[in-house]
Amino acid sequence: MANSQRKILVTSALPYANGPIHLGHMLEYIQTDIWSRFQKLRGHECHYICADDAHGTPIMLKAQQMGIAPEEMIAQVQKEHEKDFADFNIQFDNFHSTHSDENRELASQIYIKLRDAGYIKTKTISQLFDPEKSMFLPDRFVKGTCPRCKSEDQYGDNCDNCGATYSTTDLINPKSAVSGATPVMKDTEHFFFDLPAFEGMLKEWINSGSLQQEMANKLGEWFEQGLQQWDISRDAPYFGFEIPDAPGKFFYVWLDAPIGYMGSFKNLCDKRDDLNFDDFWSKDSTAEVYHFIGKDIVYFHSLFWPAMLEGAGLRKPTSVYAHGYVTVNGAKMSKSKGTFIKARTYLDNLDPEYLRYYYAAKLSSRIDDLDLNLEDFAQRVNSDLVGKLVNLASRTAGFISKRFDGKLAKINDTSLTTSFLAKQESIANFYETREYGKAMREIMTLADIANAYVADSAPWQLIKEDDKQEEAHQVCSNALNLFRILVTYLKPVLPKLAQDVEAFLQMELTWDNLDIDLAGHEIAKFKALMQRVEMKSIEAIIEASTENLQVTAEPEVKAEVKSPLEQDPISDEISFDDFAKIDLRIARIAKAEHVKEANKLLRLELDLGGETKQVFAGIKSAYAPEDLEGKLTVMVANLAPRQMRFGVSEGMVLAAGPGGKDLWIMEPHEGAQPGMKVK
Ligand code: 2FM
Ligand code: ZN
Repeated sequence: MANSQRKILVTSALPYANGPIHLGHMLEYIQTDIWSRFQKLRGHECHYICADDAHGTPIMLKAQQMGIAPEEMIAQVQKEHEKDFADFNIQFDNFHSTHSDENRELASQIYIKLRDAGYIKTKTISQLFDPEKSMFLPDRFVKGTCPRCKSEDQYGDNCDNCGATYSTTDLINPKSAVSGATPVMKDTEHFFFDLPAFEGMLKEWINSGSLQQEMANKLGEWFEQGLQQWDISRDAPYFGFEIPDAPGKFFYVWLDAPIGYMGSFKNLCDKRDDLNFDDFWSKDSTAEVYHFIGKDIVYFHSLFWPAMLEGAGLRKPTSVYAHGYVTVNGAKMSKSKGTFIKARTYLDNLDPEYLRYYYAAKLSSRIDDLDLNLEDFAQRVNSDLVGKLVNLASRTAGFISKRFDGKLAKINDTSLTTSFLAKQESIANFYETREYGKAMREIMTLADIANAYVADSAPWQLIKEDDKQEEAHQVCSNALNLFRILVTYLKPVLPKLAQDVEAFLQMELTWDNLDIDLAGHEIAKFKALMQRVEMKSIEAIIEASTENLQVTAEPEVKAEVKSPLEQDPISDEISFDDFAKIDLRIARIAKAEHVKEANKLLRLELDLGGETKQVFAGIKSAYAPEDLEGKLTVMVANLAPRQMRFGVSEGMVLAAGPGGKDLWIMEPHEGAQPGMKVK
């Protein structure tokens, strides 16, 4: 083993127990699973923990809609989640539920410690209440008319049409999305966690150097805005844990969700004699704890969670690793385009190892979004895994079985082996630092070298000549040994392939075994290891995922309250190559007109010197249509067309300024001609 054994606890975010796992979720589970498998492969003690996130209003209401008890619904969903994960070769050491005895006990203990230390305050607040259902309504369960653009059927916190954010009480003609009743304002006492008391500690923790730079920057901004008291209670009826000594008051789902990491680990410790809960969670623990999460829940994990742990006298995470969102074919996953792909739909059609590899090849340690481009996916898998990796074995293994009794030769020239082994530390370092894309590139470069060696040596020619038998044996043995090293490097990403290769090579692939000498070692008969991705499988996935969208009565709710980050996500940098793709052109505004019902948009017809494009631009606050006609401006000419409520928008005009009246479209210098390229 490269260094001394570490004790590691690693988690992925807990999926809500009211919906299926999709390929957006899978990015995180694959990312974490690779990391956890890598640590185990290196000989470290690593425990990968997860659970279903089972509490909250959306889950309570969904069970009601289904006419079953929430306990029954979350049990059903948990079964499906566990099956999806297992079939994607996600190897949890424990998968539990936040609706468990362990979690109830831990949440109560932590709360009581916080309360007794003076970190829980109470305050009476006024909230919208559904008089028919006798329940307080989370913002997302109130709908009404937007106070700004007057568009109907908008959520209680922001308008899908004009993008305004407002308080639920500002909605015109509000209605409960649960019963349709008109909500009334009602006072209620809530419990608050005193987050501002932890500002000093949090600043120190964040600057200790173990957080991603983008995350540390974002947290810096939140500190500037000032930390707020956090509302941690909800009134009955609520599906969750009742707060100790507070009948009718329940912990808000986000209070007991992260404690669910501990609850699941406690459940594992109770099943295993060799594991001690306090070794990982006590204040003086020397174990490492890592949370892998999506960028939308950074606030909860890097502010509330460490503060709660600190306040309760427990250790804080070693680090929190955030990743970006998955887009499919360059756009947000969409049910109407068939790109909102459920894990099960994928599994019904394709090998999970393909997606594991593709995500690994595109992952870095940064918070960038990751595009699953389905054509690129097929091409990359076919070229790298089938064309380069598996091909090494399929071109050489048959000769070993048929001509050399299935036994490998003692390799005379070990220079390639040595150069492959020399990469082990840099590859390990890429895995450790979550630079999987770099690790995959390094490994595929080695695969290219191995393939060039086989092609140059042409064992299929050598084998035909009597005096070249030993040479053929050397080449095939050498190629299979290099193949073994590559598959060992890839084992965290491709566990099923590695397992099949272990059966074929009749040996376990471990990091410690990398430099083993295989002279005289007997291998089994080679069987095909992987098939090419066929476009028809991808088409079948898209077809099975395409829904004709009907307006549903059920509000689509991810969380009851958006995290501050969702409203202000961590901005993603783009690469220079991405920037270079933008086609900026001079356009003449041939026509400009108001768009009925849209209070921000103007419809522009842009003349690009021969070609005309229609663009809906949000510049109505600053320009009257008649002021624009005839003007030259700069537009992004190669933006994919977007279907908007009022028609298709085929580009974007560039404007700058603080907004409102102070917004200026970019006007080029004299001499510009419609259609001219700007960069
Ligand atoms: O955003 C979500 O999907 C939450 N269910 C994640 C919870 S992670 C942890 F804190 F429990
Ligand atoms: Zn609006």
